[in-house]
Order: sequence, then C-alpha cells, then structure tokens
Amino acid sequence: MIDPDTVTLGRVDDDGFPAFRRAFAATFGFDHSDEELERSRRVAEVDRLVAARDADGRIVGTSGAYTFGMSLPGGVDASCAGITVVSVRADHRRRGLLTRMMEQLFADADDRREPFAALWASESPIYGRYGFGPAVPTLNVTIERQHGALHHDGPVGEVELLDPDAVTDTLPDLHEAARRQRGGTMTRPDGWWRRLVADPSDARDGAGPLRYALLPGRGFATYRLKPDWGTGAPVGMVQLEDLVALDPGATAALWRFVIDTDLSAKLEAIRRPVDDPIVPLLIDPTRATFRYGWSLWLRLLDLPAAVAARRYLVDGTIVLEVSDELRPANAGRWRIEVTDGTARCERTDAAPDLMMDTSGLATVLLGGVRATQLHLASQVHGELAAAAALDRLFAVDLAPNSDLMF
Ligand SMILES: CC(C)(COP(=O)(O)OP(=O)(O)OC[C@H]1O[C@@H](n2cnc3c(N)ncnc32)[C@H](O)[C@@H]1OP(=O)(O)O)[C@@H](O)C(=O)NCCC(=O)NCCS
Repeated sequence: MIDPDTVTLGRVDDDGFPAFRRAFAATFGFDHSDEELERSRRVAEVDRLVAARDADGRIVGTSGAYTFGMSLPGGVDASCAGITVVSVRADHRRRGLLTRMMEQLFADADDRREPFAALWASESPIYGRYGFGPAVPTLNVTIERQHGALHHDGPVGEVELLDPDAVTDTLPDLHEAARRQRGGTMTRPDGWWRRLVADPSDARDGAGPLRYALLPGRGFATYRLKPDWGTGAPVGMVQLEDLVALDPGATAALWRFVIDTDLSAKLEAIRRPVDDPIVPLLIDPTRATFRYGWSLWLRLLDLPAAVAARRYLVDGTIVLEVSDELRPANAGRWRIEVTDGTARCERTDAAPDLMMDTSGLATVLLGGVRATQLHLASQVHGELAAAAALDRLFAVDLAPNSDLMF
C-alpha cells in the first residue's frame, strides 16, 4: 500500500521539465517524443508547475497553470490562471493528490491576484467539487458540402492563402481584435502562435498541414483537409480549427471559402460559440449537425473582484447567498449593485434573492448559461422570478467562447 503521506508537492525547474512532461504524457497516453517535449516547452510556464513526488523522488502527479488574460463581457480583460497538465499516476489515484495540487494552484493564483481560474475538463465530474462551473457551452458543427449553401448576397472580398511564415505577422492582431467581442476567450501569447504554426506532421492524425485563409484586416480561418478517396471520388473532410471574423461579410466569406474546399465532402468545426452565425447563414441548417459541448470551466477565486471585473448591460441590484466550502472568503451574502454598467459587490445582511453554490455563480457569470436553467435543475434556489432577474442582469451581447484548448 502506497502511503499518501510520503508524497510531497514541489516545484519544477528547467532541468526537471522533461521528466515532468513525460509523467503527464504517460497518464494521458500521449507521445513522449523529444519533438513533443519541445512543443510543450514552447508554451509551458515552468515556474507555475506543481509536481507530486513519491519518497524516491519519482513524479507521481503533475499540474500547472498558464498566465492568461481572459475577456469578460463588455470588452474588458481579467487575469486568469489557466489550470493545465493535471494528472495523477494510476497507482496513486483517489488518495487526495489532485485535491492537494489544486489547493497549491489556487494559492499560487492568489499570490498573483488572479480573480479567476479556468480549465478544460477531461471528464465533467472531476471539477465541480473544486468550485468550477461549466461556463462556456459550445457547438460542434458538421456541414455536408452539398448542403453547404449560404444566405449571403453581399460582396465578400478576396480570400488569400497565407504562408505559415506570415502567420505571426497577421493573425494575432485580428484574433486580439475579435477576442474582446465575447467573454471567456484567452489571450494567445506568442508561444501559442509559434506552436500552432509549427504544426508537426505526427500530430495531424492523417490530415494535411494547417492552411491559413486570410481576409486582410477582416478575419481569418485556419483549417486542414483530411483526404479520403472513398471508392474513387474524393470525400475528404475539412477540419476547421479557427474562424475569426470582424464583420458579417467576412464571416460569410470565410465560411463559404472553407466549406467549398476542393476534394472535400464535409466540414467539421469544433469550439464554435452557441450563437455562431453559421446557423442562420446556412440555407438548410436542418441538414447540418449541431452537437452541444462544453469548453471552459470557470472558478471564481476572488468572488467580489470577479463580479466587479465584467461590465453589465443593465442596471439593477440583487442579493446572492453563495456557499463555497473550499474558499470561505467567497461564502456568504453578497449584494451586487450595477450602476452605469459597473458592479459593486459587497457583503450584506439583507435577505437573499437567490442561493447557489460558487460553481453555479461561476457558471452564469459570463452570460453563457442562464440562472433560470440552473433554477429548474435545483442548482439555484429562490423564486424563479429572481433567477430571471439575475439573467437580465448578467445578459450579454454575444455568447462567450473559448477557442484555445490548453
Ligand atoms: C483526475 C485525476 C487527476 C484525479 O486525481 P486523484 O488524485 O485521484 O484525485 P483525488 O484523490 O484528489 O480525488 C478527489 C475527489 O475527486 C473524485 N474524482 C477524482 N477523479 C474523478 C473522476 N475522473 N470522476 C469522478 N470523480 C473523480 C474522487 O473520487 C475524490 O472524491 P471524494 O473526495 O469524494 O473521495 C486522476 O484520476 C487522473 O490523472 N486521471 C487521468 C487524467 C485526467 O483526467 N486528468 C484531468 C485533466 S483535465
């Protein structure tokens, strides 16, 4: 029997990074190659990694965080710890190691005054206990090319295919301009762009290299063609990675361009926002498949700072009673008062309009999930009318979206 008390948490340095990364890759069944190590090193923040080591110094648990800016409703940004590389070796599971690592990651984020933590969950049941809520629903879209006709009669402009060398000169600015239109989108630091462009052939799963379609100054799409010759006729699949557009004409032009890829029969797009304009753009959306999924799980580390960080479309006041077992500083009654689009969030003794767990508040704060829906699922308590009032207060222009899997 392995004694959990002999496992200690500690930091990782540059020399220890390969062993750390290999321990993580082993649990996830990922490649351990030197190339993959180099790719992950491009984006890793080694000083934010936390390793669990057994009595012999072997790494038996891994975790870490990225330092992101996250867009919030109203076009503002907040600091966010992007939790990542979470793994516990199979023979050390269910002894509380993840819980210990999570506490350390939260403490690190507190030191950096990050009001939010966020992650992509491999399995949904894991993270609710740590106060994370599924804040960003997404659409995964499949479009048969033969049913891909779009409503669009305006001029579209010329789409150019970019050389990979030109990507980092052009796409980051467009991405940054589009990022603030929706909440939940992380900054994409330079290392992430370089990692994208590196596009190693061993990580393409049979698809071709990434292509970069640009509408200068207006948007871009990145996509691959996965060739398939079927019984002779080409029935390849376009895999859309990103489609970022700053105006409706660019949106239609880029979708048109990727759907009409030669030698393809269908397109698959993942991580699309739930209000993606592709739905009404399609002349026959009933022929497309839309699958609901989740991207970002959000955790409010500093509740009043998190609530005050976003902007609001309407004024109003509401009192919430929030439970938060892990972080008692968040627990209790909070009065949220919005004036001229800005919120004050202060402790109060007033009777609460609604009661919820901290994960429920994290779920609804970006406006991607409605409090009324959680009320009907018994995850927000109080009058339905109060949940509807919270929906009006937390309403957003555009649904949140999270386009960077980290
Ligand atoms: C998920 C993982 C990190 C959990 O590590 P762990 O050290 O076993 O977790 P802990 O012992 O701290 O578990 C804490 C609680 O979470 C629960 N839990 C852990 N993993 C769970 C899972 N996959 N599904 C449901 N509950 C889970 C435990 O049962 C425990 O509950 P309890 O406190 O009520 O007893 C580990 O199983 C793992 O490495 N899995 C494969 C990789 C992975 O999925 N990583 C997550 C990346 S997003």
